[in-house]
Amino acid sequence: MEERGSISRRDFAKASALAGFAVISARAGVAATNTDTLKIGLIGCGGRGTGAAVNCLTGVENIKLVAMADTFPDKIEACLKNLEKAGDKIWGKVDVKPDMQFVGLDAYQKLLKTDVDVVIHATPPYARPLHVEAVINAGKHLFTEKPVAVDPVGIRRVLAAAKKAQDNKQCIVTGLQRRHQLPYIETIKQLQDGKIGQIVAGRAYWNGGLPFSHLRKDGWNDLEYRLRNWYNQCWTCGDNIVEQHVHNLDVLNWVLGGHPEKVTASGGRAWKPVEERFGDIWDNFSCDYTYANDVHVLSMSRHWNDTANDVSEHVVGTTGVSNCQDLAKGGIDPYVQEHIDLFAAIRGEAPYANELFRTAESTMTAIMGRMAAYTGEELTWDKALNSDLSIVPEVLDFDKSYPVGPIPVPGKKYKG
Ligand SMILES: NC(=O)c1ccc[n+]([C@@H]2O[C@H](COP(=O)([O-])OP(=O)(O)OC[C@H]3O[C@@H](n4cnc5c(N)ncnc54)[C@H](O)[C@@H]3O)[C@@H](O)[C@H]2O)c1
Repeated sequence: MEERGSISRRDFAKASALAGFAVISARAGVAATNTDTLKIGLIGCGGRGTGAAVNCLTGVENIKLVAMADTFPDKIEACLKNLEKAGDKIWGKVDVKPDMQFVGLDAYQKLLKTDVDVVIHATPPYARPLHVEAVINAGKHLFTEKPVAVDPVGIRRVLAAAKKAQDNKQCIVTGLQRRHQLPYIETIKQLQDGKIGQIVAGRAYWNGGLPFSHLRKDGWNDLEYRLRNWYNQCWTCGDNIVEQHVHNLDVLNWVLGGHPEKVTASGGRAWKPVEERFGDIWDNFSCDYTYANDVHVLSMSRHWNDTANDVSEHVVGTTGVSNCQDLAKGGIDPYVQEHIDLFAAIRGEAPYANELFRTAESTMTAIMGRMAAYTGEELTWDKALNSDLSIVPEVLDFDKSYPVGPIPVPGKKYKG
């Protein structure tokens, strides 16, 4: 029997189907006409935030970047320099006055009090549920990066925000750019129409190197170090299976039309020494996901330097195989296309868009794989989604200490 208030697989599928790409004629009020200049605020001004701003300003007309928020002032400074270097077409659409540059852990709140219409959100994942909820409560449209949470409590918070956005017709596009990449879109349409028969198995890999790990610099307290070295603690990034492999798991969910029913997984740290800079995350995961009709998907995600890289998705059908993008060619840079699609939806030139439900579903798929691997237990979707696991500290304070670890050991008591 389901617990009261828990979210079942059926409920999830229903909510996702309703909101995935529902056509809703009325628009949230920001774009009175298609030619109004829409104001953009950027929260999280690092590598991807800068890249997403450039992509958006490249693809969309009648917009202006007017506000920026980041924990650290040097990030805003570097972002502005890089936007200027990106050329006149980009720089001409940037006008971020000093009093519209917000710094600190509450910078996002200050930005949300301004009259920006659309937020680009590109902080590390730990902040996403809190910030996404605040963006929706502030009535803004949203482009947000993936993954959208690091634990099930965060996922449920994001789902509640997604529902509110749907009710208010606020548009949301998320940074799973394969969903805006023509070869994937056209191929997956054909796969779902039976091009290779019935899909009986799949595999998804993110086998790459360690993105970065920084030594602590003089003057960095614990929190500053954890945030600057965010890809090395589970609470800041979700571990590599969540942070990057979500892209590939999303493709499998897309092809198979939903999330897995259960998962068995393993993994560990094959090469990383126990050093603060390498945090508490693992460097390899292998998962066996079971979808409806006993379809199994093998997933691997690694941070192994100097080994064979493979970032890909494949499915096996009763009459053929596919890498999920081999049946079509063309399209433009999906990192640009995703912003074009968001603004078309905001301006009423395309159906209402809210990708937060399905991206929460794919993020949760990755989180359940991590939970199963860390504990060594087989895990069902419903149990994982309704878990009370919450790993982000409730209070973030530069005067407090945030020790690293423990590094999860399967079979030992881990709170996952
Ligand atoms: N879709 C893709 O292909 C893709 C590619 C790269 C990164 N990303 C995603 O973008 C996100 C950011 O990655 P990145 O490479 O830009 O990292 P980054 O470290 O370069 O940038 C993150 C920025 O967020 C800021 N920040 C941290 N906490 C904050 C807070 N509470 N409030 C405001 N600002 C805060 C940091 O100071 C930093 O400037 C990640 O979730 C990552 O998965 C997606």
